[in-house]
Amino acid sequence: TVIVIDFGAQYAQLIARRVREARVFSEIMPHTATAAEVAARRPRAIILSGGPQSVYAEGAAQVDPALFEAGIPVFGICYGFQAMAAALGGDVARTGLSEFGRTETTVVTAGTLLREVPATFRTWMSHGDSVHSAPAGFTALASTAGAPVAAFEDVERRLAGVQWHPEVMHSEHGQQVLEHFLYEIAGCTPDWTPANIVDDAVAQIRTIVGDKRVLCGLSGGVDSAVAAALLHKAIGDQLVCVFVDHGLLREGEAEQVEQDFVAATDVRLVVKNVAEVFLRELDGVTDPETKRKIIGREFIRAFEVATREINADEPIEFLAQGTLYPDVVESGGGEGAANIKSHHNVGGLPDDLQFKLIEPLRTLFKDEVRAVGAELGLPEAMVWRQPFPGPGLAIRIIGAVTEDRLAILRRADSIAREELENAGLYRDIWQMPVVLLADVRSVGVQGDGRTYGHPIVLRPVTSEDAMTADWGRLPYDLLEKISTRITNEVRDVNRVVLDVTSKPPGTIEWE
Ligand code: XMP
Repeated sequence: TVIVIDFGAQYAQLIARRVREARVFSEIMPHTATAAEVAARRPRAIILSGGPQSVYAEGAAQVDPALFEAGIPVFGICYGFQAMAAALGGDVARTGLSEFGRTETTVVTAGTLLREVPATFRTWMSHGDSVHSAPAGFTALASTAGAPVAAFEDVERRLAGVQWHPEVMHSEHGQQVLEHFLYEIAGCTPDWTPANIVDDAVAQIRTIVGDKRVLCGLSGGVDSAVAAALLHKAIGDQLVCVFVDHGLLREGEAEQVEQDFVAATDVRLVVKNVAEVFLRELDGVTDPETKRKIIGREFIRAFEVATREINADEPIEFLAQGTLYPDVVESGGGEGAANIKSHHNVGGLPDDLQFKLIEPLRTLFKDEVRAVGAELGLPEAMVWRQPFPGPGLAIRIIGAVTEDRLAILRRADSIAREELENAGLYRDIWQMPVVLLADVRSVGVQGDGRTYGHPIVLRPVTSEDAMTADWGRLPYDLLEKISTRITNEVRDVNRVVLDVTSKPPGTIEWE
């Protein structure tokens, strides 16, 4: 593993992802970890991330000099670069010149790190202090207007660093520089491939689970599907999957779970079809929060009933969850792979149902989950599915939910998705809610007659994490096609409108 030490900027996760893109496994540790704790993980290399502070600031996070003497290769980035220079006797000075954003960078000596990088190239900087002279034994490799020494290396001691942020996409040759460090200076081998990820996870799961049984809830989404497929590969029929079909999924999704997923994995699946219950409980409800509460409550109730039934026949020890690495890092965790912790009341399950939790995806980023899904032979549509909210179509019908309205929205959504896919834009758009304004009517004309139908809203958005989003600039031709098809093919819909609101102020979903 390569340990990325987080100095508190937002870049550590991005660095860890870039290292994994180079097919080397990486994990994040906080800067408060001691050199001994870091060394205990037996890392192949250490990367010091950027941080918000000056190395001279009071209370600035320090780098334990012992880190450089353990014989482990170290790469310093931005703050990590300056901290390395300071710790090893280089000269870090306040030049009074700050550099932010794109910066022209000149190669002084290519060395190993900057081999095959052009003589001048653009990097993305964010620093106040700068390194004036490299520590003894190091070769200075590059400079900028504000940073006399912008990169250095000591290949002998396997130490190197750069002032810029090679992990951000605005830095040219960033991945190349990082890979030079990983492969040539640190001697890492690029063996973190989807096949190896699967092998590792399978071995881990077998060790943890032994001959016990595992329960896994399927939602139709990619995370739970990949978790289940991994578990199935590891423990076969000791895994039981439960799928609660609440009748609020889109066209083809329930079938995808019931047929395609089972066909691809041969997993044991218990389907609890409770669409009728959901429709009854949602009858006449228009308030979004009330809808969500009802759906949450009924979902847990159905899952609980299914679980009790299975548990009565064959006691189950573990419950699988599709937790991903970013959640683990953000909640301050980060220890080891496929961690387990004792837990009850998971996701609202009652106290008397006790499970140990198993999280087979807890070391993976989303793109790795998709790669693993493809490796395990899951259907493409499942692996690349866009995010879809748990409450499903119920929060995309503005007004009360009825079977009739669900049918209308399902058709419209299916057309919009199909055309987005045909245009080859499905993976460029984060997600595209299709919303039925069921309580709104407008006048239209179709054929020779007046119509009085409902509008459909298209809500394409681009995003990185759904916390913020922008409206997706779909080509007019595509919008026209979707609009024409929906108004022609879906009864009771005579108007298609486009939502051009960013988040904030709008949320992605309408309810
Ligand atoms: P909003 O509408 O809050 O949505 O901008 C942000 C992201 O979360 C999804 N979403 C949900 N996902 N249960 C879920 O599993 C929910 O209740 C829920 N509400 C919103 C939404 O689709 C978007 O990706």
